[in-house]
Amino acid sequence: MSHAVNHLRNALALFLLASAPLPAVRAAEVNAADLDAQVRSVLQQHGFTGTVGSSIEDRLGRPINRDMADLGRLLFFDTGGGLHDDNTCGGCHSPANGFGDSQSIAIGVQNNNRVGPNRSGPRNQRRTPTVANTAFYPKLMWNGRFSAPSGDAFDNSEGFLFPAPEAATAFPPHHPSVTHLLIAQAHIPPTELVEVAGFTGTAGTIGPEFDQFDDGQGQAVPSADASGFRNEPIRQAVLARLNGTPAYRALFAASFPEVASGAPIDFTMFGRAIAEFEFTLTFADAPIDRFARGNVEAMTVPQKEGALVFFGSGGCSSCHAVAGASVEMFSDFEMHVIGVPQIAPVFGAGTGNVMFDGPGRDEDFGLEQITGNPADRYKFRSSPLRNVALQPAFFHNGAFTRLEDAIRHHLDVSRSARGYDPVAAGVDRDLTYRLGPIEPVLARVDPRLATPTNLSAREFHALVAFVRDGLLDERATRQDLCRLAPARVPSGYPVMRFEQCPQRGR
Ligand code: HEC
Ligand code: HEC
Repeated sequence: MSHAVNHLRNALALFLLASAPLPAVRAAEVNAADLDAQVRSVLQQHGFTGTVGSSIEDRLGRPINRDMADLGRLLFFDTGGGLHDDNTCGGCHSPANGFGDSQSIAIGVQNNNRVGPNRSGPRNQRRTPTVANTAFYPKLMWNGRFSAPSGDAFDNSEGFLFPAPEAATAFPPHHPSVTHLLIAQAHIPPTELVEVAGFTGTAGTIGPEFDQFDDGQGQAVPSADASGFRNEPIRQAVLARLNGTPAYRALFAASFPEVASGAPIDFTMFGRAIAEFEFTLTFADAPIDRFARGNVEAMTVPQKEGALVFFGSGGCSSCHAVAGASVEMFSDFEMHVIGVPQIAPVFGAGTGNVMFDGPGRDEDFGLEQITGNPADRYKFRSSPLRNVALQPAFFHNGAFTRLEDAIRHHLDVSRSARGYDPVAAGVDRDLTYRLGPIEPVLARVDPRLATPTNLSAREFHALVAFVRDGLLDERATRQDLCRLAPARVPSGYPVMRFEQCPQRGR
């Protein structure tokens, strides 16, 4: 009997123990509903709908042309489009990294034909941003130098704005075939000597090889498009290659009736095919999008808490905005100084082929390179943050290799920048030898980041979870995107080796 009583007592004790946390559980449930309501209300205030990804064809005003996109895909990966057969888009915009860089600072021509951690060759000046979702960006590049004055990449009623030598006249309003900012943009990389074309360009038509490093006025010139090189001869040389390749003639003919009836392939066709492929790289269906469309289960509790920090006490959304012209891309598409440490490769010793800015040639003046206005020095575009988790490095020069560090940097910019150690930050060795000055950068930091933001450990981890996982479209992961890398290309040149792509497509 006493045995039974004991049993009963034990059972009661267990019951009491088990039920003790009940009120807390109920509180958490209430909190969960409350949390959902708060996140929903914040997203509504910011006009975030989670529908931008599915709007691509509406914005285009037509369905995506699959044949043309597939042609664009082949061009994107075919080094035959580079005058020295050694690089093209895919060498820097890697499918293993969400179509962004495998490096902190891009490696262009004269590379070892590998794409991934072991890519080697001379470095350019900046990290390659992802091209996924660029269809929606009204301003392209780290300093926003290619833009749609209409504020809408799909609207060429005001033309597209490019710096010299293309300038405002190259892609005028209502251009019949350059109907999207990305079509215009694709005219540029093939002409970039350090990225794709190679130093000798079309030897003889381009001019002295190394002029691009200095314009003679103490201003470094980062690349061919700002240097006054004539880009058109390079384009003509690329076109001669395409027109001379029967496989390309046939592929272009399938998408462009003019080519079918014998006309030569021209560069707007190249641009249209590339852009069409880029339209297919729309990866904007992340947990936050599904949440905004009504699926409260799509985000975890930390992601939701992180969203509240992002849009609230963290102050992130004042620059990484979603409303209006931000088209839910987490960028205001404006340029700001945020005190990023300046790292630079060793120039002339085989590890860098672009002259950096400043007296020590170890700085990047950002927006000033385009406007010539010293007030714009060190300004860079607020990075659109979708799929940022796929990047191996962060900021315009990849100065940080861990997302946590890039986020923590924002919370106390001067401490982070002054205490910066490139080795500890995990950047490749060749980028650890030269640090540009930081005090002039810090003197210009955006007022919003001039004083530290205090977050609790819990808030910080939630914020990281939100930025890393809450903004990640799972269709953009390595496994899926690697299939877009073709096993062979129409030019017949060897394909690039993607170190982190176990399998590739056709
Ligand atoms: C050598 C590496 C390299 C190659 C090759 C290359 N890119 Fe890029 N790409 C970059 C870098 C670096 C940037 C940013 C440059 C800057 O802001 O100064 C960039 C920027 C872009 C952007 C703008 C992205 C944004 O967030 O604004 C697009 C679009 C783009 N490239 C498309 C292409 C296409 C298409 C090709 C091939 C025709 C190509 N790129 C070839 C390195 C490369
Ligand atoms: C004053 C504007 C501003 C604020 C506020 C701001 N950022 Fe940024 N953020 C930027 C700019 C500008 C860059 C790009 C800087 C560069 O590369 O030189 C950037 C870059 C980033 C990057 C790196 C992305 C990449 O592609 O490399 C992350 C991650 C990021 N911000 C997260 C945040 C978070 C989280 C917050 C809130 C705690 C925040 N930012 C607040 C302007 C801002």
